[in-house]
Amino acid sequence: MSTPSPAFEGQLSTSRLTTAVLPHEVRRDPRWDDLERLRASHPMMDAIIEEVDGRRIRVGDHWLSDFASCNYLGFDLHPVIIESVARELRRWGTHPSWSRLLGSPRLYIDIEEELTDLLGAPDTLLLPTITLIHTSVIPVLAGEGTVLVDAQAHKTIYEGCTVARGMGATLHRVRSNDPSELEQTLRSLPATSSRLFCMDGVNSMTGNVPDISEYARICREYDTLLYVDDAHGFGVIGEDPSSSAPYGRRGNSIVRYLDESYDNIVLVGGFSKSYSSLLAFMALPTDLKNHLKVAAAPYLYSGPSPTASLATVLAGFRVNEAEGDDLRSDLAAMTKRVLDRISELGLFTLNSSGLPIIELPVGAGDDIDAVGRFLFDRGIYVTLAAYPLVPRSQVGFRIQITAANTDEEIDQLNEVLGELAERFDMQRPPVPC
Ligand SMILES: Cc1ncc(COP(=O)(O)O)c(C=O)c1O
Repeated sequence: MSTPSPAFEGQLSTSRLTTAVLPHEVRRDPRWDDLERLRASHPMMDAIIEEVDGRRIRVGDHWLSDFASCNYLGFDLHPVIIESVARELRRWGTHPSWSRLLGSPRLYIDIEEELTDLLGAPDTLLLPTITLIHTSVIPVLAGEGTVLVDAQAHKTIYEGCTVARGMGATLHRVRSNDPSELEQTLRSLPATSSRLFCMDGVNSMTGNVPDISEYARICREYDTLLYVDDAHGFGVIGEDPSSSAPYGRRGNSIVRYLDESYDNIVLVGGFSKSYSSLLAFMALPTDLKNHLKVAAAPYLYSGPSPTASLATVLAGFRVNEAEGDDLRSDLAAMTKRVLDRISELGLFTLNSSGLPIIELPVGAGDDIDAVGRFLFDRGIYVTLAAYPLVPRSQVGFRIQITAANTDEEIDQLNEVLGELAERFDMQRPPVPC
């Protein structure tokens, strides 16, 4: 055996080290201090989930009811979907490792066709995640023009906008829920520059639905492309909402829910929430789709979604068609029970939509750490909404309800909310003047 070269010997000895040493200290932004402290010490952050049983989860030896899942339709646990995966694995292997530009298994084309039909969109393009879509597509759409971003847009949208700025675009932040401010800003921009406005659909913290129709009207008037991330709406809301189907039908997302057209809108959504899979999409015109096939890096270079994810989505379409509206109706009913309880207890929530994302901000005298520990001890698992994930005034916790939660779990949650209201300040609704 030949003697390793000095460089190779160096690699061997480094790989034996148990603690990696960086050449210099990573610069720490003090804004992350609260979150760093919670991550290091809180049982509801960075937790190891040992086992699941329906929407019950085990952390250590403690069983909790899970209200932190985004699997809104319960497809992660659906037997038909689970069984569909093995069949496709036998046909396609575990992972189609070609980048999409090299070749896509037929599963991709089947999903794009069904999705285009479900959304009633001109066309659709699939990529592995919404995060990858934002960071690669926003810069392409923005070019060296102007990109405007809603102040409450998801962090992953901001990252895409920041990349766009690094590539020559000018970035403006626009106050949330204030279409008139967007209109004023657009009016002040030179008519020659190309414009893109990026915002969330169903908001991931408030659960509320923005007035996309008004934003679309303004964007059309000022020749601005509207880019909407409806990660949380797709699967939950859809066409023809009514009193008997408050979330609408078919789960085909915000554009259909608001009876809008896709003119001048690029809708982005994902299967990682309602469809419990690792895949994301854009609804867009075919010529833009074809351009992104050569201009958006993940289509050219990234590994694609695994076969299991693609199979999960195709089976999810079948289940959505057969059972989706019943699941959405159960979800709406369970969410209403929790919102009614919150109102009965006199607690404040940012949710005014009735959708299954319910944030409860803590009061001025409360500590999110203590509130979270109380919920954990009482067997309720939620998402802690710490600063800077939310503005300081909205620090609290987020409850998410899924169709796989049971009525007993909702009873348990409502009981614990009662104890919470007695024990902690929590924010109360503003008293009308
Ligand atoms: C609004 C929104 N956009 C994007 C993402 C990220 O989606 P993905 O996991 O597909 O990258 C999330 C996930 O939390 C989200 O809430």
